[in-house]
Amino acid sequence: MSPDDIDNNPTDNPALAEIIEAHLSRRSLLKLGGAGASLAFLSGFYAPSGVAAAPTGGRSPKRSGPTPLLGFASVPLRVAKPATATEPAVTAINNGDNVVVPVGYTARVLYSWGDPVSDGPAFAFDASQDWQAQSLQAGMHHDGIFFFPHNKKKLNSDHGLLCINHEYVDQGLLFTDGMLTFTPEKVRKSLAAHGVSVIEVQRKNGNWSVVRPSDRARRITGSTPMKFVGPAAGSALLKTTADPTGTSVLGTLNNCGSGASPWGTYVTCEENFNGYFGWDQTYLRTPEQARYGITQTGFDYSWHVHDSRFNVRLNPNESNRFGWMVEIDPYKPDSVPQKLTALGRFKHESAAFATTSDGRAVVYSGDDERNNYIYKFVGSVPIEQALKQKVSPLAEGTLYVARFDAGEPAGDDMGSGVWIPLTTTNPALAAFNMTIDDILVHARVAADRVGATKMDRPEWVTVAPDGKVYATLTNNSRRGHSTADPAENPNSIADEANPRVSTSATSSSRRGNQYGSIVRWTENGDAGALTFSWDVFIFAGDPTNPAGLNGYLPGGNINGAIFGSPDGIWADPDGRIWIQTDMSVPGVGAYVNMPNAVMVAADPNTKEVRRFLVGPKSCEVTGVCTTPDQRTMFVDIQHPGESLTFLTTPGQEQAISNWPDKRALGQGRPRSSTVIVTKDDGGIIGT
Ligand code: FEO
Ligand code: CA
Ligand code: CA
Ligand code: CA
Repeated sequence: MSPDDIDNNPTDNPALAEIIEAHLSRRSLLKLGGAGASLAFLSGFYAPSGVAAAPTGGRSPKRSGPTPLLGFASVPLRVAKPATATEPAVTAINNGDNVVVPVGYTARVLYSWGDPVSDGPAFAFDASQDWQAQSLQAGMHHDGIFFFPHNKKKLNSDHGLLCINHEYVDQGLLFTDGMLTFTPEKVRKSLAAHGVSVIEVQRKNGNWSVVRPSDRARRITGSTPMKFVGPAAGSALLKTTADPTGTSVLGTLNNCGSGASPWGTYVTCEENFNGYFGWDQTYLRTPEQARYGITQTGFDYSWHVHDSRFNVRLNPNESNRFGWMVEIDPYKPDSVPQKLTALGRFKHESAAFATTSDGRAVVYSGDDERNNYIYKFVGSVPIEQALKQKVSPLAEGTLYVARFDAGEPAGDDMGSGVWIPLTTTNPALAAFNMTIDDILVHARVAADRVGATKMDRPEWVTVAPDGKVYATLTNNSRRGHSTADPAENPNSIADEANPRVSTSATSSSRRGNQYGSIVRWTENGDAGALTFSWDVFIFAGDPTNPAGLNGYLPGGNINGAIFGSPDGIWADPDGRIWIQTDMSVPGVGAYVNMPNAVMVAADPNTKEVRRFLVGPKSCEVTGVCTTPDQRTMFVDIQHPGESLTFLTTPGQEQAISNWPDKRALGQGRPRSSTVIVTKDDGGIIGT
């Protein structure tokens, strides 16, 4: 079961699918204008290559005249497999157990689970190392990633810091005997395999490597001390026996996507935190705990059995201390990470930055669970003013949630939208006497009460150089699901006439919206605007596969390389839209004609899509960034060889994949890894 594939939204708020359907029938109506969002930050860390500040290292990123955004030849969907002694030659889907990139590009592994961060121990392939060793090594399940130039002002492209999320762990791989036994020591190692890596990387003689030792490298884990900042810091809802002040917390968990702030900090997002908690004996969970998906056994990590911090009966507020965005200063290895309460508590997928015309920070973030929402934070004071006062520009501000309306059409846009403030003065929240602490700690509950739009699992968000904002909606097996399933919440049912509804009555079904889509919007003003207009950039899918043909526009409308379940998304400084995929069950059903998880690049104007990278077996491709000169790309490969259940058969760890080390069965483990992609002629990635 995919942990995010759960529906805890009990409201009858409208679903985007309903609105799309309603609006598509009205597309020939009038047009409204809308100014692009201010993106002052693009002149900072991620400048378009045509206007970049001159980097100190490597070549100057010159581009001569207008050239097509996508210059590479798509990785072929099918490849010829030569005849063997027993099999004739065939043409088969291009899904080996390797990373494949286009002709003219090279990919190689840089940093895998268990590799030392600085001067720690090397990885032991039998996973026998203890938690102390793990806390000096790369965590598991790499996800969001950003490159920070070694010198903020010089924007180096040959030397910098990489911040890498380690989203979760497969405990079957983490221990020599997998999950056959479980102990407090195993909880400590599991906590140590979560969090974030900050590593120093450098290119010398054309080759990138991790700098070891490094005085800036560090691991931030599920046990690292951090503090709360913002309006809800010190709230009664955040107080525990161990922290009666409600201001300090140990660790960050389920760090999914991330963002790089304009001022050079890393903002990492806590997603499926609920899965680590559980309870023993009899415990009646609160409605808010139910809304956040806290259950008796969680996702079977078993931490609550051996560490009372994760036992909800004994520590009912501990789970309130996760589900936040966390700001880390990679340049200051002794700095304490800050959990940002002003940005609300939900299953944050990623953090996409913009700035208002008067210099305040804006952060977009999706709440990845079926039928949950997209949020926007707008800072209350200009970034420069906050930094002068030595406080985070993200410490204070207003949180909004999106309502997508059919509204009046705007040119090619399908509809309009409203950012609804989640404030104590919003009458819909004042009616419930919600304090700001209530609103921020239980942002989902507040968003339910203001009529936000239920989305098809919002994953990453990115802001393109032209100000358009893109969000991946990965899939939704509960969109329009039948009431025949008793586990189904009746209020989450979409109208049957809406796009991509489920047509099966069983909760195990993956039918319905199996492929996902990418929605995009333009703010009506700067990034702090209160309204926007939106369209659907791409409906993903495979028009040739009858297994996927359910609901609205079932085969999708992709112009080029087909894909499904879009997840990671990043607009590079030139405007290429990099899209990464994560399929729960690759290679079967609706995905039978698709390769392993991929990264494609889309042209935002022509909507042409080309396949740039195919990952190894049963992986997810997630997290992408480049150096400022755009000539080195970093991509994370997560959970190669993933099994749908935690492994309990030692020796079989590599039954599905033995990437990247290619060791014999029983002699190793598949390892999530950061991969470096370069163009053989030294050019900009994507050209
Ligand atoms: Fe961590 Fe929704 O993916
Ligand atoms: Ca994701
Ligand atoms: Ca996945
Ligand atoms: Ca996903």
